[in-house]
Amino acid sequence: MSHLQRHSGPQMSSKKRFLVTLYSPTTLLAAWMPLFSVTLFHYLTSHEWIEAHDVLRRLYYLPIVVGAVQGGLRGGIFFAAVVTLAYIPHAFFMPHHLDPAKGIEKILEIGIYLLLGAIAGYLADKERKQRQRLEVALGEREALQTQLVRAGRLSALGQTVAGIAHEIKNPLHSLLGTSEIVDPVIPKDCEERKLWEIHVSEIKRLQNVAERFLSFARPSDAQMQPLDLREVAGRVQSLYGAQARQTDIELQSEISSSPVAVRGDRDLLAQLAINIFINAERALAHTQNRQGIIRFTVGATLRDDSIQAFLRIENNGPPVDVGHVEDIFDPFYSGTDSTGLGLSISSRIAQQHDGFIDVANDGLGVAFTFYLPAISEAELDTSNQESEDTQ
Ligand SMILES: Nc1ncnc2c1ncn2[C@@H]1O[C@H](COP(=O)(O)OP(=O)(O)O)[C@@H](O)[C@H]1O
Ligand SMILES: [Mg+2]
Repeated sequence: MSHLQRHSGPQMSSKKRFLVTLYSPTTLLAAWMPLFSVTLFHYLTSHEWIEAHDVLRRLYYLPIVVGAVQGGLRGGIFFAAVVTLAYIPHAFFMPHHLDPAKGIEKILEIGIYLLLGAIAGYLADKERKQRQRLEVALGEREALQTQLVRAGRLSALGQTVAGIAHEIKNPLHSLLGTSEIVDPVIPKDCEERKLWEIHVSEIKRLQNVAERFLSFARPSDAQMQPLDLREVAGRVQSLYGAQARQTDIELQSEISSSPVAVRGDRDLLAQLAINIFINAERALAHTQNRQGIIRFTVGATLRDDSIQAFLRIENNGPPVDVGHVEDIFDPFYSGTDSTGLGLSISSRIAQQHDGFIDVANDGLGVAFTFYLPAISEAELDTSNQESEDTQ
């Protein structure tokens, strides 16, 4: 299960497809069987019956074309060669069962077998490649469509949310201001003091929520620069590591030993990782009698023919509800009573970086992986050099 993932089905290599073709039911029925029967009839039919031999020689086209359609260029040439081998003794060497055609006709016929196999195979390969390209393009289009729908929903919601959050923020500000004035008036040891403290902390909580909603509605522009993705993981660990250990969560790291160069915005990437990390931490609160683990992995991998850097955060908590895998990236969707904005903000940051977030119930239990295009290490070095020079 995945999110905003570019789909491209598994593609068989042409060699493997050829080998599979040799014993596929279609080939057995439509290539091998005609080949054997035509050969048999050829050998058994009296050489005086010239018309029958003319037809039989041409019936050999069938297994060659089927082989080409099924196995491409390799299949076409292979079946043309088998047909030729089956035909040659009958054409030239068996005195009592000789094909009555002229020698030159028979040689030309063999030429046609090989040519037919090659041309039909070439065309079949070309057609197959085109179909694969179309399938990949279609998959990408579907993924893009999902992204656009989500982006549209985000921007409509964003405007509404920004309006509401803004309206709420101003009165909250006054409430907090007045509470600061009132605070010293309330005696430290009176009974109402506790209620008052709840009052003030709830105002602060509301202010935090309004702040989050605003940051969701008004995404900051990304300041892209070459950076090492390992630093992002390091920053999240140093910010939240102590807190995690306090709640008895074990942090593990599998960080690449060489730099993982990407182009990105340090703060936004940290925000993305923090959102995923906090979710992992909260999910672990529900694991009883088991050591909670959160594991960071940073590296690079080949995906869809390009090198992708990735940052994975896994935890051994309960699985993500399979029926809601797509929903969890929607704004305001929450499996708990939280704001439900974390993953939608992260997903938008991923898009700003030409990347995507993949979620799967595997690894330690639940794994969120953020993929983005890798850049060359040289670009990272140049950028570091430049920033040192300007200092
Ligand atoms: N690591 C995880 N394990 C299990 N469920 C998760 C995990 N991360 C996210 N989820 C599910 O996705 C939902 C949405 O997450 P998020 O967008 O961050 O919103 P919030 O954290 O405010 O609920 C969560 O409420 C939870 O149900
Ligand atoms: Mg969250």
